[in-house]
Amino acid sequence: MSDELIYGEIYAPIYEEYTTLRGKIAEADETVAFLERYCSGGNALELGIGDGRVAVPLSERGVKVEGIDNSCSMLKLLAKRTDVIKAWQGDIAHFRSEQRYSMVYCVYCTFTMLLTREAQIACLRSAVDALDDEGVLVIELDVPGWNPFVGGQKTTTARLVDHENTMVNVAVHDPLNQNLISTLLWFSGTSVRRFPQRRRYVYHQELDTMAECVGLELTERWEDWSRGAFTERSERHISVYRRRSSP
Ligand SMILES: C[S@@+](CC[C@H](N)C(=O)[O-])C[C@H]1O[C@@H](n2cnc3c(N)ncnc32)[C@H](O)[C@@H]1O
Repeated sequence: MSDELIYGEIYAPIYEEYTTLRGKIAEADETVAFLERYCSGGNALELGIGDGRVAVPLSERGVKVEGIDNSCSMLKLLAKRTDVIKAWQGDIAHFRSEQRYSMVYCVYCTFTMLLTREAQIACLRSAVDALDDEGVLVIELDVPGWNPFVGGQKTTTARLVDHENTMVNVAVHDPLNQNLISTLLWFSGTSVRRFPQRRRYVYHQELDTMAECVGLELTERWEDWSRGAFTERSERHISVYRRRSSP
């Protein structure tokens, strides 16, 4: 894949500002409090570790965190923040680790950056191989929205509006592949910047089926990091899987 299609290479220069404006930095403490329960005193592997938004505070709580990312620029941001976390460049769809982990986790919809069903199943298979016997896999995903696409496209206004910034997301739907090809338009001052990306959305039940294919079973599902109930109104889910117990 060429650099311009790698999410991390596009987003790294603005990642901290972007995640701050979207409330994702503020949310990290809650994310870490949730995750820590599964790996306290153990170790964890983050798939798509990025700049360490979650991994750094998790490691500050005493968890030995490692991570994988396919973006050099993201890994450089992480290395600037800490030298305690071991992270390597790789594809989360196909990785092997000698190490076994108490928890493997993939947050902030990173899983949807794998653009085919095969790549998503391969990622789950790699993750289950990296878990220790009691280990858990935690995945955070948005519930695909039902705002209508008109003629296969939609423009979502108000991703964010404040007195300095307006973010608008423009998306085209590829229903055959469950792909959304989108561009974030970020207006600030007199400039407009474009940040393209592509994702394969997944419904929670499809995720469960893919997880079952690789020997995992769902043990918990929440709508947010504070363990709110997952309902028909939920806009995202946090799903926890373990190895399926033998019948
Ligand atoms: C939305 S960011 C999330 C970063 C971090 N986990 C967080 O929560 O802030 C997605 C990250 O996954 C990485 N990524 C995307 N596709 C990947 C792939 N196939 N293999 C490895 N890393 C990938 C990107 O470079 C980026 O750092």
